[in-house]
Amino acid sequence: MALPKQLKDKLRFPVIAAPMFLVSGPELVTACCLNGIGGTFPALNQRTSEGYAEWLLQISASLEGKEHSPFGINLIVHKTNPRLEADLKITVEHKVPFVITSLGAVSEVVDAVHSYGGLVFHDVTNMRHSEKAIQAGVDGLILVSAGAGGHAGTLHPFAFIKEIKNAFDTCVIQSGAISTGEQVLAARAAGADLAYIGTRFIATKESMADPEYKNMLVSARAEDIVYTPKVSGIPANFLRQSLESNGISLDEIDNPDIDLGKELIDDAKAWKTIWSAGHGAGNINDIPTVAALCDSMKKEYNDQLQALK
Ligand SMILES: Cc1cc2nc3c(=O)[nH]c(=O)nc-3n(C[C@H](O)[C@H](O)[C@H](O)COP(=O)(O)O)c2cc1C
Repeated sequence: MALPKQLKDKLRFPVIAAPMFLVSGPELVTACCLNGIGGTFPALNQRTSEGYAEWLLQISASLEGKEHSPFGINLIVHKTNPRLEADLKITVEHKVPFVITSLGAVSEVVDAVHSYGGLVFHDVTNMRHSEKAIQAGVDGLILVSAGAGGHAGTLHPFAFIKEIKNAFDTCVIQSGAISTGEQVLAARAAGADLAYIGTRFIATKESMADPEYKNMLVSARAEDIVYTPKVSGIPANFLRQSLESNGISLDEIDNPDIDLGKELIDDAKAWKTIWSAGHGAGNINDIPTVAALCDSMKKEYNDQLQALK
């Protein structure tokens, strides 16, 4: 199954800007959609379900009457998310074009989104979760591979894409360490229908990230990214400089006796002041507008395509 037509026909470049906690908001989503790529945000980026609904109205109003790509939202499908039911109801009421589900793939959520013609893509890091998602009826899998920002997987994308494609006839969206147009092309060449890009969009004018976070990304290299479960309970990638500026040394991270996770989640420091990024950070050298970034990615993609001929 290839990329569903309602998405394929409306994307002018094969990219979705990934949802990022505390980073993606209406300004970023709108800019992405107006520049031909999919824009997304996590429903939880608004503190309440009412606020989430307001953002949906705001985004729809900004896009109305203009040529634009579809937008999507991210739902955390997990028993610890008390907002799931209310946010899903709002998603259905507003007919959000596509939904990205994380942590759990359940047919009730998929059916609810399908009821109005929406699409569901599910984040996966391994074959077992991919099988479950396919059984739940999702429209595609987002392969969160090694080096991705946020809760990254550990599999190499070359290996993972092919294994998934051999096992399932589904749309494949590749996530992890993609920052440039050449890398979008590489994901396509490896068999993905779309590239899914997070970290690169943190360092854009329209992202909600702290200016210091954006500057830290510009100066970071891939080797500055630390993969640890200690901050959020699930293994995720964080900027070493940000761990250190929060008083967390790499020695502490390596020490299995220290439970930073609980402490940091309890005082809400995780993600707010401890900044996540993927290995693609080393390929970020500026903080452009989304329009300028999309233009340069399209040029890199086309130049590389020509160079390969
Ligand atoms: C700061 C940050 C926050 C993130 N928050 C979420 C989130 O709330 N929900 C989600 O599904 N993925 C989240 N992700 C993962 C991204 O959606 C995406 O899979 C990842 O950023 C892709 O890898 P890349 O950053 O190397 O491009 C987050 C990633 C980052 C960097």
